[in-house]
Amino acid sequence: MSAPTESRASLHQHPIYRIEARMLTVAAITDLTPTIRQVVFTDPTGRPLPSHEPGAHVVVTTHPGTERQSRNAYSLTGDGVLPRDYRISVLRKSAEDGGRGGSEWVHTLGVGDLVEIEGPRSHFAPRHDQRHALLVAGGIGITPILSHARALRRWAGTAEVLYAYREGFGAHLDDLAELGRSPGITVHLATGESEMLDLMTSRFADQPLGTHAYACGPAGLLETYQQVGRDAGWPTDRMHLERFAAPELDPGAPFTATVLSTGTRVDVAPGVSLLTALLEAGVAVPNLCRQGVCGECLIPVRSGEVEHRDFVLSEDERAVGDRMLCCVSRGVENVELEVDL
Ligand SMILES: Cc1cc2nc3c(=O)[nH]c(=O)nc-3n(C[C@H](O)[C@H](O)[C@H](O)COP(=O)(O)OP(=O)(O)OC[C@H]3O[C@@H](n4cnc5c(N)ncnc54)[C@H](O)[C@@H]3O)c2cc1C
Ligand code: FES
Repeated sequence: MSAPTESRASLHQHPIYRIEARMLTVAAITDLTPTIRQVVFTDPTGRPLPSHEPGAHVVVTTHPGTERQSRNAYSLTGDGVLPRDYRISVLRKSAEDGGRGGSEWVHTLGVGDLVEIEGPRSHFAPRHDQRHALLVAGGIGITPILSHARALRRWAGTAEVLYAYREGFGAHLDDLAELGRSPGITVHLATGESEMLDLMTSRFADQPLGTHAYACGPAGLLETYQQVGRDAGWPTDRMHLERFAAPELDPGAPFTATVLSTGTRVDVAPGVSLLTALLEAGVAVPNLCRQGVCGECLIPVRSGEVEHRDFVLSEDERAVGDRMLCCVSRGVENVELEVDL
């Protein structure tokens, strides 16, 4: 009886199941708009890459080997089924726009370069009970939405795609036009805020039973999406969204955290995150966006009340009270948190 177990184990050690950090080759580069560049990665040995859920992202190491080395998340635009390549589309965010240089580094890549890529991983997958999808995107937020729409086309699902972009800066318009010619997929485009508001208002009011809505885009578009959905009486568990960045947070109140495995106590002052306090105390915590949008810095909490400020955990997950995203969420004022690290 041991043979099947052994063969299963070796199958999962096969390189196409590897999602830890590894080097992929830049196979092609296309400028989609003056500020958005598509980069296509392949395995240097020519193998297929691990499949992924629609809406998944990879993590790219930028400025490798320098003091500016960092890791940025980028959504994959393919349908995720046995991919021969991974495609990302990256908006160049300049320092004046608050960028830290990672997206600018991606724009310096050339064909043939080797890049460290980790993942894919996902917090924005389609729900299993979905019978139809309303897919809403603004600007660069089209990337995970395109992945959802392509997967629906592959599996003969149905969807309406609403895409808002600035005239002259729309990415993937050809891909959307092609998707719009597929049976069951309708694409609506809007080039202004009021046009998008009208579109959302009319489409939210006219969806079949069993529809789930998904949105990705700038903060203003996501607020409108949530408001229009609420006004149309949509339950929150049928409305999903992904943020690429988060709004500024207030500094928060002071609190204390104790690391249960070592007894280390850290005082967390206003304006300092628990993540920073833990890292400075020598406690290793994985992290990526430091804005509460990627889910990487999840830590278990044994006791103490948490003020959740992330955009990843659901209301149900928060209510259990046994975990937090420590880059943004904090203990409530003067609480003594116990974290299970
Ligand atoms: C799930 C997900 C999917 C995304 N998909 C796309 C996409 O498809 N296309 C796209 O253009 N963008 C995407 N983004 C945004 C992208 O990851 C970058 O944020 C964006 O490209 C700007 O990068 P930047 O390096 O210029 O600046 P920033 O985003 O400001 O910084 C990037 C990196 O700096 C580090 N950092 C951030 N804050 C701090 C801090 N306070 N202290 C120390 N280090 C910090 C982090 O490692 C962070 O990843 C996505 C983001 C997420 C979370
Ligand atoms: S590091 Fe991304 S949610 Fe905390």
